[in-house]
Amino acid sequence: MSLKVLSVVGARPQLVKLAPIASALASAGQRHVIVHTGQHYDADLSDVFFSGLGIPDPDVHLGVGSGSHGVQTGAVMAALDPILERERPDWVLVYGDTNSTLAGAVSAVKLHLPVAHLEAGLRSFNRRMPEEHNRVLTDHAADLLLAPTEEAMRHLAAEGLAERSVRTGDVMVDVCLRVRDAVRAGSVDAPVLPDGIDPERPYLVATVHRAENTDDAARLASLADALADLPVQVALLAHPRLVARAETHGIKLGRGAVRVGRPLPYAGLVAAVLGSQGVITDSGGLQKEAFLLERPCTTLRTETEWPETLAGGWNELVADPAVLGPARWAATATRPAPDAPRGTPYGDGHAAETVAAILAERASR
Ligand code: UD1
Repeated sequence: MSLKVLSVVGARPQLVKLAPIASALASAGQRHVIVHTGQHYDADLSDVFFSGLGIPDPDVHLGVGSGSHGVQTGAVMAALDPILERERPDWVLVYGDTNSTLAGAVSAVKLHLPVAHLEAGLRSFNRRMPEEHNRVLTDHAADLLLAPTEEAMRHLAAEGLAERSVRTGDVMVDVCLRVRDAVRAGSVDAPVLPDGIDPERPYLVATVHRAENTDDAARLASLADALADLPVQVALLAHPRLVARAETHGIKLGRGAVRVGRPLPYAGLVAAVLGSQGVITDSGGLQKEAFLLERPCTTLRTETEWPETLAGGWNELVADPAVLGPARWAATATRPAPDAPRGTPYGDGHAAETVAAILAERASR
């Protein structure tokens, strides 16, 4: 009998990772149950990824929506119990570091179901980030840790988790390179950039969505000023959290260099980055996508879980543009792509097949 894997997903980056996994499990003839927690519910953050990346519709939708960390995490756990009891999968597969990840892992271990954590071992060592709590707790709860990089393997070993860990490469590479090739082959529509951005002139792609950057009014105002003052056009692809917090704090985002648009579907995002001069972001996924797509990235954070991107200057951390001062900030954000070789720290684009094979090999039946 084939293996039954149950994926718990709910937020945008998990849907991107789900795409290559769903396809690898299907190719390997495994049964795959997809549970969408409903953490992200806007079409821009959810539906477009299913349609755009050819992911089968979720088998179950928990519809939990937004809430405080406890409310959201608890709601997913409460709703998952009966689904996990009914499905009794061979593996519960959780992805990344969101509240949906932690909830899936905790629900499953309490029901004595084997849990595999995809993208295990990442650490920012910043204990104020909700994602850091989620990833540390999930790694320690899970039975199988699927680590994307050597660095992640080292973090897991340092926490006594080496025996449960396997390096698989990063499934984001699988999907990113596949879509890049489709964009280059002309089979992807031009991305819908924010109104007012002229794609014929140099532009930067920017995203800001992390709680540390959006929730404090002074911090967000200072970031909005820094983007507005840049000497090239800035296409700000605004997550609903950013829009909501800017409105609450009375901060206008679309001014100076900045034009505000909606988040893009995955292929549109890859096309937008390929058409850009560079990226400014606080997203983990986008730092890596910029690296894979050979565009310089400026990361609005004090640390990164993806330190491999920093090699050769492909990614630079700017914790606070105001501290750099206008001239150095502008020079950093608009720097050309370095010519340093990037290597393949995230694998060769076949990570999802490796994950499917390891799940089959390690299933306890
Ligand atoms: C979540 C993850 C973060 C991940 C991000 C990807 C956690 C703690 N955070 O952050 O790690 O990088 O997803 O996008 O799990 N909202 C909407 N529509 C939606 C979803 C959210 O308007 O479909 C708004 C609501 O105002 C909500 C806010 O965004 O309160 C925050 O949503 P939430 O799911 O808590 O976290 P994200 O910021 O999306």
